[in-house]
Amino acid sequence: MTSCPRWSAVSRVSLWLAVLVGGMGTPTYAQPARRATLAWDRASTEPDRIVLTWSGDPATTQSVTWRTDTTITAAKAQIVIAADGPRMEPDARTVDAATERLDTRTVPGAGEVVHYHSVTFAGLTPDTLYAYRVGDGARWTEWFQFRTASTRRKPFSFLYVGDAQNDILSLWSRVIREGFRRAPDARFIIHAGDLVNDGNADWQWGEWFRAGGFIHAMTASVPAAGNHEYRARSAQEAQANGSSLSVFWRPQFTLPSNGTSGLEESTYWFDYEGARIIVLDSNRDRARQVEWLRAVLANNPQPWTIVTFHHPVFSAARERDNKELRELWKPVFDEFGVDLVLQGHDHTYARGRMTATGPSVRNVGAGVNTRARGAGTVYVVSVSGGKMYDATPGGWERYQAQLERKAENTQLFQVVHVAGDTLRYEARTATGALYDAFHLIRTGTRNRFVERMPKGAPTRTMQSAPPYGRR
Ligand SMILES: [Fe+2]
Ligand SMILES: [Fe+2]
Repeated sequence: MTSCPRWSAVSRVSLWLAVLVGGMGTPTYAQPARRATLAWDRASTEPDRIVLTWSGDPATTQSVTWRTDTTITAAKAQIVIAADGPRMEPDARTVDAATERLDTRTVPGAGEVVHYHSVTFAGLTPDTLYAYRVGDGARWTEWFQFRTASTRRKPFSFLYVGDAQNDILSLWSRVIREGFRRAPDARFIIHAGDLVNDGNADWQWGEWFRAGGFIHAMTASVPAAGNHEYRARSAQEAQANGSSLSVFWRPQFTLPSNGTSGLEESTYWFDYEGARIIVLDSNRDRARQVEWLRAVLANNPQPWTIVTFHHPVFSAARERDNKELRELWKPVFDEFGVDLVLQGHDHTYARGRMTATGPSVRNVGAGVNTRARGAGTVYVVSVSGGKMYDATPGGWERYQAQLERKAENTQLFQVVHVAGDTLRYEARTATGALYDAFHLIRTGTRNRFVERMPKGAPTRTMQSAPPYGRR
């Protein structure tokens, strides 16, 4: 369709409210109008929106989800240990998909009836390269390859990106693709919320999938829900000022169901080769997630602990403070010595850490907790899409924390490399330039922080690096 009946008044109002109110940090971005529907927005008999995730152990399982139109009722996937030669099919195992019908015709901004299919490959061999494809038994996609996690603590990398959200196809695409170029063997991608601007806008998810392309089908996504993934599912909910998790979230991401009850698949955790990755939902029931978070941290044998969610503990943009997160969650991060907290929401870049004071409990393996003075959790806010806010003036002194690197008007991706006792972090701009870096080195029960910020890379600000058109 070329007009936009799906683009309701509610969506327009909520969008401008988001721009005007959500972006109180002197918004420098105006969301473009909804574009016309394109051929690739529409579901067809061919699988599209193929995305790897985990719902189980990354060493022995791999989930994949994809979309078709409603004529595909018996979808399948095939998997085989990847071979050097081309004839993999005779050895492939065929697995029937679970098919879910998603009717969004009454959802503001959505509006189609489609099928989402998912398969969780199980019983896989750890640290092994597999090839898989999806289809209907007669027609198949190309073979995609992924590697299962090792059961040992081998070195690995992952990518982390802040809000994609705006200009997803035109501008986020280059960031995720540059990330893939810089870290082609990254095992997963943490998306710290606001993957799209309107969680129920099908066309925006279409752009997210098209921007990532085959990367989504080869590198597992680890999504956290942002406030833009919470939208009204009906006109009645919109009238009541309510919102719910995007209607697309659970059908299109097959995620662990080990989270807080009622927030399954927006809170979850998994272990990957010596790192425990914990995803929280900063949009809802923050107090109720504390008990679950404490339980996940108290029984954590992994040497590295990385937590991700959307709203920052230390805000990076003006007038967007999240005091409740400092009151509810930060004490738990301190107590259990969380190493790294990865966030989004503020459409700027900020990286800093707790001032190294006070005791913390570190988990040193085999479920043994040792009280030690932690080097302080490192907190990062980042942004990958096209919307940019002004940063908070000054630092984090009022929080007893140190803000050590920030940026405005800069699209970024982050590569985190975990190797034994060393975690290497780097933030790169959309052009691949190194903007920020540090190492965390575990020495006994504490981390040593090593600044690796590139020399000769000044802080990017709206003044020093203004948007085009403002120079
Ligand atoms: Fe947000
Ligand atoms: Fe955002």
